[in-house]
Amino acid sequence: MSEIFLPYGRQSISEDDIEAVISILRGDWLTTGPMVEKFEGDVADYVGVAHAVSFSSGTAALHGAMHAAGVAPGSAAVAPSLTFAATANSVIYCGGRPVLADISPDTLCLDPGAVEAAAGHVAEPVRAIVPVSFAGYPVKITDFRDAANRLGALVIEDASHALGAERGLHKVGQEADMTVFSFHPVKHITTAEGGMVVTNSAELAKRLRLFRSHGIVKSPEDFVRAYAGAWDNDMVELGYNYRLTDMASALGASQLKNIDYFVMRRKEIAVMYREMLSEAPDIVLPPDHPGHSYHLFPIWVDGSRRKDVFDRLRGNGIGVQVHYVPLHLHTYYREKFAFFEGDFPLTEKFSSGEISLPIFPDMLDEHVELVVKNLALALGAR
Ligand SMILES: Cc1ncc(COP(=O)(O)O)c(C=O)c1O
Repeated sequence: MSEIFLPYGRQSISEDDIEAVISILRGDWLTTGPMVEKFEGDVADYVGVAHAVSFSSGTAALHGAMHAAGVAPGSAAVAPSLTFAATANSVIYCGGRPVLADISPDTLCLDPGAVEAAAGHVAEPVRAIVPVSFAGYPVKITDFRDAANRLGALVIEDASHALGAERGLHKVGQEADMTVFSFHPVKHITTAEGGMVVTNSAELAKRLRLFRSHGIVKSPEDFVRAYAGAWDNDMVELGYNYRLTDMASALGASQLKNIDYFVMRRKEIAVMYREMLSEAPDIVLPPDHPGHSYHLFPIWVDGSRRKDVFDRLRGNGIGVQVHYVPLHLHTYYREKFAFFEGDFPLTEKFSSGEISLPIFPDMLDEHVELVVKNLALALGAR
């Protein structure tokens, strides 16, 4: 067993981040205070959108986005099978049917050509198309617009992997109707747990804020019944407590100051991996894009060798991970929605040989070399 363990991802916390959180602990507002709006404003400015609504996790943010899009019992949403469970679970939380579809081999993201065929297999109207910018590859949102218009659906980009990614001049977050980010510690910036929905629609932002805080209105102009006075509040729909705290928001705002460095360093590590692995005979490298923000660096080995290579790397302290076990092969999805092996051949092919190599901003060049050396050893050992 090796002395060092290199995780596939981890947070990068500065003294300024620590000070930012401490200053909140010394202040008046631990939650529902001014730092929440400050962090939301900072994210909106960074992404270049009108509204940002924070949530207590990326999963809660997805739940809010599905609700705001009108996903409800008797409706459906289309998502790729190659994703984390939360993408499609959020549809089920709203009582909707998750309709899964295959990926495109060029992007490893939801295949735009598969969306309408998948929608055609279910009776329920589709309220949302949910492409995932897998690994930080900025999937082209305009490719989903026609299908969304024909189906009468909104496009919700699950950009949990893709804060800081760019499509030409557009930061990820500007093009979909709503875009969801996660601030889990392995992501580009962290609030420990946390997430955000960004949108240019004031109407959607309003629905998201209501849903995040119990469905309770407090401002006189939001009342549907008579407003009784400054103490009054009215619950107009079922909502949740999905609020992000001021402590978490302070950490997020401080982290966001370093986003350019975080993305740049991830890209540097990806370039190093590409150069060092370009000649490796037994692996496939991930699709590249000038605006990729490299949350993950996935590689592919032959499916028959993945377990062996994975175990050898882990045994030598290289904390590789697999993204993902396809959703349609999870027991719950099989049993509840009658998915079967063979339903999404490309997803299954890519998933069966995938290994995510360590990539995070504090990784040193020698760590990258260590991963590559151990990968060569693992691949060579037969
Ligand atoms: C693609 C994707 N969607 C959603 C989520 C959920 O985010 P969170 O962990 O912040 O709830 C994740 C988290 O890893 C993810 O990778």
